Parts: sequence; C-alpha cells; structure tokens
Amino acid sequence: MATVLAIAGSVRTKSFNQMLLRAATELAPAGLTVEAASIHDIPLYNGDLEAESGPPAPVAALKDRIARADGVLLVTPEYNNSLPGVFKNAIDWTSRPSADIARVWGGRPVGVIGATPGSGGTGLAQAAWLPVLRTLGTLPFFGARVQVAHAGKVFDEHGALIDATVRAQLEKYMAGFASFVARLAR
Ligand code: FNR
Repeated sequence: MATVLAIAGSVRTKSFNQMLLRAATELAPAGLTVEAASIHDIPLYNGDLEAESGPPAPVAALKDRIARADGVLLVTPEYNNSLPGVFKNAIDWTSRPSADIARVWGGRPVGVIGATPGSGGTGLAQAAWLPVLRTLGTLPFFGARVQVAHAGKVFDEHGALIDATVRAQLEKYMAGFASFVARLAR
C-alpha cells in the first residue's frame, strides 16, 4: 500500500483547493492512501528563527510526513498568474536546512493539480512550481493534468465534486499518479 501526502495551498475555510484535495482522496485507486496535510500552522519563514532554534515544530512535523510518504500531491491555487506565496512559504520551510532536502524531497514523486474560480485552471501556477520541484530534486509527474476552471460550478455548497468531466479527469490523474508512485517508491 503506497501513501501520498496531499498538501492544499490555501487555508481558506471554503477553499476550492481543499475541496479538490478531498475529491482526490476519495477518487484514489485501490492500493493508494491519500493523507491530507495543512499549511495552517506554518509561520512565515524567518532566518533568525531558523538560526536560533531550527525549523519550528509544525515545519519539522510536515517535513517528516513528506519524508515518510511515497509521494506528494501539491494542490495549488493560482495567485497573479503564479504560485501563492503562502504555499511557497510552507514548501520553502521544508527545504531548510538545505542539508535535509535529499531526505525530505530527493527522488520523491510529486504531482501538482489545482482549482480556480477563473477560466485558466491554475495552469500558470502549476508551471510555476516546476523550478521549485527541480531545485528540490523531486520527480514530477507529467502523465496527466487536472486544471480545474470555474470551480464555483464544479463543487457544490458542501464542497462535493459534482462535475462529471472533472471527476473523470481526476480519477484518471490519480490512477496514473498511483502507478508512477508505485514504480518509483523508495
Ligand atoms: C487570485 N485568484 C486568481 N485566480 C486565477 O485563476 N489566476 C490568478 O492569477 C489569480 N490571482 C489571484 C491573486 C490573489 C492575490 C488572490 C487572493 C486570488 C483567485 C483565486 O483563484 C481564488 O481566490 C481561489 O478561490 C483561491 O483558491 P482557494 O482559496 O479557493 O483554494
């Protein structure tokens, strides 16, 4: 049984990306467990804080969860045609100290999906993650895409995925990502 840690890059109560994460969990194929992680408790990166006492406890916990997972799924909003600072802040913390990057991220399969109420589907945010994933030495999954546009119509008021086309795309994505993870798991 492989385990994927899914991290949503929004802390908003009614976050579409948290809804997408939940749907990804529900549509994961047999043999893949998807666990959710939150960036809610991650403070702003501060080099003074790191120098004094190392990564704060929520950062250390997130790093350990990533290191234990067979793969990571980033569920990203798009801000200003790029990735959200709050999300990158959390991932930046997980890259500290840099001597620990290989343990936490090195060779780890990583997928990126995202949702927006706009028409672009987070394609620019997903592309903006690529230099980060390369720098961390991950193995990005390119076998499928989930770029959810018009998210207000794709999820209902309870956060359930109600769009059949997106459901099929997400199911296909999770099946492909599960195979990728199984093939590459360390
Ligand atoms: C946005 N939003 C947005 N959407 C998009 O598709 N492309 C973009 O470039 C931007 N830019 C942007 C900048 C900032 C500062 C904010 C706050 C928002 C809208 C964004 O997709 C929307 O707020 C989503 O609902 C955010 O994701 P969650 O919180 O629903 O997961």
